[in-house]
Formats: sequence, C-alpha cells, structure tokens
Amino acid sequence: MANPSLLILAGDGIGPEVMDQVKRVIAWFGDKRDLSFDVSEDLVGGAAYDAHGTPLHDDTMARALEVDAVLLGAVGGPKYDDLDFSVKPERGLLRLRKEMDLFSNLRPAQCFDALADFSSLKKDIVAGLDIMIVRELTSGVYFGEPRGIFEEGNERVGINTQRYTEGEIDRVARSAFELARRRSSKVCSMEKANVMESGILWREVVQKVRDADYPDIELSHMYADNGAMQLVRAPKQFDVILTDNLFGDILSDCAAMLTGSLGMLPSASLGAPTGDGPPRALYEPVHGSAPDIAGQGKANPIACILSFAMALRYSFDQGEEATRVETAIEKVLADGARTADLMGEDGGTPVTTTQMGDAILAALD
Ligand code: NAI
Ligand code: MG
Repeated sequence: MANPSLLILAGDGIGPEVMDQVKRVIAWFGDKRDLSFDVSEDLVGGAAYDAHGTPLHDDTMARALEVDAVLLGAVGGPKYDDLDFSVKPERGLLRLRKEMDLFSNLRPAQCFDALADFSSLKKDIVAGLDIMIVRELTSGVYFGEPRGIFEEGNERVGINTQRYTEGEIDRVARSAFELARRRSSKVCSMEKANVMESGILWREVVQKVRDADYPDIELSHMYADNGAMQLVRAPKQFDVILTDNLFGDILSDCAAMLTGSLGMLPSASLGAPTGDGPPRALYEPVHGSAPDIAGQGKANPIACILSFAMALRYSFDQGEEATRVETAIEKVLADGARTADLMGEDGGTPVTTTQMGDAILAALD
C-alpha cells in the first residue's frame, strides 16, 4: 500500500521554526516505527506571496485537495500589513478552508498535569482535563446574508445574519458523534434555542441525527451562556461539546485558556469523507506567526507537534501512535522542560525551540 500523503505548509514567522521540529518527529516515525509518509512541502501566506504574488498558488491548492492531510504552521506578519486585502497572507488559509470545505473544527482543551499550576483556575478543577470542542466552521453568522452596514432613516444599521440549513447542522453533528465514539460517547450540544430560531432548528436536527443513527451516544443540550459558565466552573463534566461557528469561536478560546499557553494548542479542521477514505483535513496550531519572537528560537513547537498527533489519530488511523507523541510531551513537561511561554516571571532558564524538539525525540525513544 502507498504511504499516506501529507502536505506541509510551514508559512511565515515561527511557522517554519515549529514545523522543523515536527519534521524531526515525522522522520522518527519512519526510522523507529516503520511508519512513513509521502511528505511534500509548499508555500502559504506571506512566503507564497513573496514567491508568487499570491498567498496560495493554484498548484498548492490542487495538491491540498489530493493529499490525505495538510499540516500548516502559521501565516501573517507585519511585513504584509499594507498588502491589499485580496492577497493578505490570511487569505491563503481562508482559501484552503473554503475549497477543502472544512466544516468541522476540532479544538481540544487538554491539561497536561505538569502545567496544571499554569491555569488561571484552581489546580484540581483543571488537572486531567481532556475535552474537545467541535465548532461548525463554514456557516452561521460569519457568512449569513444579508450582511453589511446600511442606511436606515437618519442613522446606520449594522447587520449580520445567523443562518443554518438542516444539512449544515446534520453534517457537523455527525462529525461530532463520530468523534465521540472514539472517546467517551458523550456529547453536549450548545446553542441558544431559548431566544434564537436557528438554535431551535440546531437542537432539533442534532437530536434527530442522534436518534436515527447514533443511539449509543449520550446527548445533552445546554444553552451556550450556561455552557460558558459551566466551562469555567466545572469543565471536567464535558467530553465533546458541539456548537455553532460564533459560540464555538468564543467557547473554544475560553476552554483552551483553561489549560495554559497558546503555544500548547493544536487544532484540526475536517471536511466530508472522500469516498471510503478519511475526511479532508487540515491540521494547524491555534497560534499565529508570533512576529514578536520569530527568528529567535523561542517558539514552543508543542502546539504544532500536537497538531501532527491529531493527524495521526484522525487522518491516518494511528491513535496509538498519536498517544505515543502525547505521552512523550507529557513526560518532557513533567521533567521540567519549558519554553519561555510556559514560564512565570521568576522561572529559571527556558529551553529553545530545538531543545524542546530534542527532548521530545529523546522521550519518544
Ligand atoms: P500570535 O498567536 O501570533 O501571537 C500571540 C502571542 O502569543 C505573541 O506574544 C506570541 O509570541 C505568543 N505565541 C504564539 N505562539 C507561540 C508559540 N508557539 N510559542 C511561544 N509563544 C507563542 O497572534 P498575533 O500576535 O495576534 O498575530 C501575529 C500574526 O499572526 C498576525 O499577522 C496574525 O494575522 C497572524 N495569525 C495567524 C494565524 C494562523 O496562521 N492561523 C492565527 C492567528 C494570528
Ligand atoms: Mg477566536
């Protein structure tokens, strides 16, 4: 059988720096676990603009649609601030998400024990936390029509429209239920069905999909504002949280911060399954290109390495190998290795990006 294919788009700023460490992990799997990937690399964001005058070349887009998974570093930076909106680095990423039709955004919030002190919450509330937010990514109020700023009488009115079709709710619900089957089979769906019609439809369709095709899933519903309170009060009550684009944007950032640094947070964005194969998929750290620390060897590579671990689990059906990576990271943190973002004011000497990579490879061995 052919090796699974992976397209690496390292991008700008710290993107290439953290991706270098991921490449070492990928090479380790080839050497030590007999798990090889057909890896290709290309440009995205400002790097692609510098080379081609566009943040994503058509050939790169075509390749992204062919491979089993795309792994992206980060895009953007001050150098590109004055570019026309149509060629801004971020547009490269948006085009990938749109043309790959990545409607299901997976945002884990996982607390590594060694970092539990780092949380803004009490240690026992977050220690051992491992939840996953599934956010609908391609519809809802960020895309609904009508939208705009209009004249109304003698003042202006700003309008955005929350809009969801049954099909859009159905497919993201399935994605959450499939994911839940790999975990504890528990899903909590969040909307505001008390005040929004789109929320009433959301709740109805999610329940219908569960009853028809996922009777093994334990489904509950919660108003999103209560969900926000519960997330900071007792986050461990949840396993998978399913929600729309707007609420998911906020709730996933909130949940992620329970666990510490931006430098630790991976994500996956999944589309529809391609034939019998895995879904279209793009994996990327949540953080951006971090221009303030780019080129200084300070970036934490863990978010990007954990994004690759998600690819192992969700695209390549290598859940055990994904756990191997996560366990190695857990060990390295327990042993005390910290990049600068994981240190308090008074905390010792940080390790560099490469040293963190060294430690993770050693722990994998
Ligand atoms: P950012 O995530 O790049 O940085 C925010 C803060 O977190 C900075 O102080 C940075 O040094 C720190 N940080 C981020 N990742 C880190 C890591 N791996 N290790 C250690 N520290 C880390 O967000 P910011 O500053 O708002 O945006 C910078 C640029 O990145 C902008 O051009 C923005 O548009 C772009 N961006 C790109 C994203 C993407 O590629 N998906 C997402 C967010 C922003
Ligand atoms: Mg956000």
